[in-house]
Amino acid sequence: MEIKTDFLIIGSGIAGLSYALKVSETGKVAIITKKKDTESNTNYAQGGIAAVLSPSDSFDLHIQDTLKAGAGLSNEVVVRKVVESGPAAIQELIQIGVDFTRAKKELDLGREGGHSRNRVAHAADLTGREIESSLIRAIKSKKNIAIYEDHIAVDLITQHHLKGYQKKPEEKIKCWGAYVLDVRTGKVNKFLSKITLLATGGTGRIYLHTTNPAIATGDGIAMAYRAGAPVANLEFIQFHPTSLYHPEGNSFLISEAVRGEGGKLRLKSGELFMQNYHPSKELAPRDVVARAIDFELKKSGDNCIYLDITHLDKNFIKERFPNIYQRCLSLDFDITKEWIPVVPAAHYICGGIITDLEGKTDIDNLYACGEVAMTGMHGANRLASNSLLEAVVFANFAAETSRKFSKIEKGHKFPSIPEWSTKGVFDHKEWVIISHARQEIESLMWNLVGIVRSNSRLEMAKSRIDILLEDINNFYHQNPVTYEVIELRNITKVAELIIRSALLRKESRGLHFNQDYPQKDDRNWKKDTILKSR
Ligand code: FAD
Ligand code: SIN
Repeated sequence: MEIKTDFLIIGSGIAGLSYALKVSETGKVAIITKKKDTESNTNYAQGGIAAVLSPSDSFDLHIQDTLKAGAGLSNEVVVRKVVESGPAAIQELIQIGVDFTRAKKELDLGREGGHSRNRVAHAADLTGREIESSLIRAIKSKKNIAIYEDHIAVDLITQHHLKGYQKKPEEKIKCWGAYVLDVRTGKVNKFLSKITLLATGGTGRIYLHTTNPAIATGDGIAMAYRAGAPVANLEFIQFHPTSLYHPEGNSFLISEAVRGEGGKLRLKSGELFMQNYHPSKELAPRDVVARAIDFELKKSGDNCIYLDITHLDKNFIKERFPNIYQRCLSLDFDITKEWIPVVPAAHYICGGIITDLEGKTDIDNLYACGEVAMTGMHGANRLASNSLLEAVVFANFAAETSRKFSKIEKGHKFPSIPEWSTKGVFDHKEWVIISHARQEIESLMWNLVGIVRSNSRLEMAKSRIDILLEDINNFYHQNPVTYEVIELRNITKVAELIIRSALLRKESRGLHFNQDYPQKDDRNWKKDTILKSR
């Protein structure tokens, strides 16, 4: 089957949906999403969205905080543009129906690590769900937007798919859409589009312990890299300091806003320790807090540390953190009376597909926005709650440019794109290989490419992932394409790219800490780590 559209959007989180709303004013839009429409990292965001929203704050302060967290690798021009676009983006979200928490009539602004002012707009501790459901409601009211649930993109369509194609030197790669598996029928269809947006989110599921939902398998980064788009800074993986440590609560985030409201981190003995690591203590930047916890856990051999908010008013806790309160209560502990057991977990990838200020990638007609992109905003470490902000603002920039393009391109013709080929494919029914390989990669990344790295651990990870990559590529080419195989292929590729990037960077900066090079080296390494396949 062949579906033709003006705009193909891969992903239905804040980036994809915000872009869809804007471009639907000029053309037909198809959104494909690999599970249900709301299933995304966006849907689980807790803390909120950062912007300059109070008279005691200023653009310069937000810019300085972002640059400081970015540890020398953020692009100041990008940071300024995003920060200055923040207040208008929040107003637009309010207009489409996002009900942010208010104190009297004003927005109630929270504080998180690295912010010098209260500037985080939130909807209690369910900000993501409020944003996602409001965007989906708005999308569903538009006639020319179609959402395809349970559709997973396999690969981008470029001239490399044309029969007999030979690339000419200096020729730019073009994108005409994507091959997409309809999970319900098992068929791979062609979605042809004038413009394609990758809004596939993050990579948390590459790690054993993560705050991310199951969709976060780095598909967009893998597809773009295979197609020939440069990717950058993949070594900068943000580990959130406080995810719940509980056999049934694995991957549940305990928002940084809990520390923003006065939560204290304690060792099992009750001792406070953050004062030994940073003057801002519990509200130090995330990389500092995550490394401090990692260090304390390695020293004590304990499984977790504790987040204590028992000194706060019980009713305030229930009102400010209803989701966290209820989730913990369902696991039989009451956070108004008991300390919360927490550990760090993989949370966010600062690197991604390189884009310009309009969200354009290096491939013609291909844009990328949100967590999948590397715009220059976050540098070596993302400031809390800057991610939803960057995603929505860049979706707006990208929509503005692509709308102009689609107007010029009326009467557009697609080349003759071949059907998905199943030549040489047999069902070997060796499905155990998939679950085994996935578990191995998650453990390998957690143990060897985690919060603290070393040359020997990274080299060990590299030699194993190279073997897995070859095995899984062979498996992919010999077996029918399924949801599980697509994700495994992408996870393996992105793991390999993260390891390669981490090996290249011979210093410690922001989220990348290598104990063999414990210092920052501005003379040689104040630059992005760029990888490209063609
Ligand atoms: P996502 O929201 O992740 O959406 C990606 C979409 O792509 C999904 O619909 C997915 O199904 C789809 N997809 C992926 N691969 C494919 C494929 N191959 N084919 C088809 N569809 C595909 N940031 C903040 O700024 N503030 C916060 O308070 C905050 N809290 C967070 C809490 C948690 C628990 C987590 C996990 C993250 C949090 N973040 C927060 C980070 C932030 O939520 C994400 O970075 C942001 O939501 C990413 O939005 P996105 O649109 O780029 O991707
Ligand atoms: C949180 O609520 O702690 C997550 C905020 C973020 O990742 O920006």
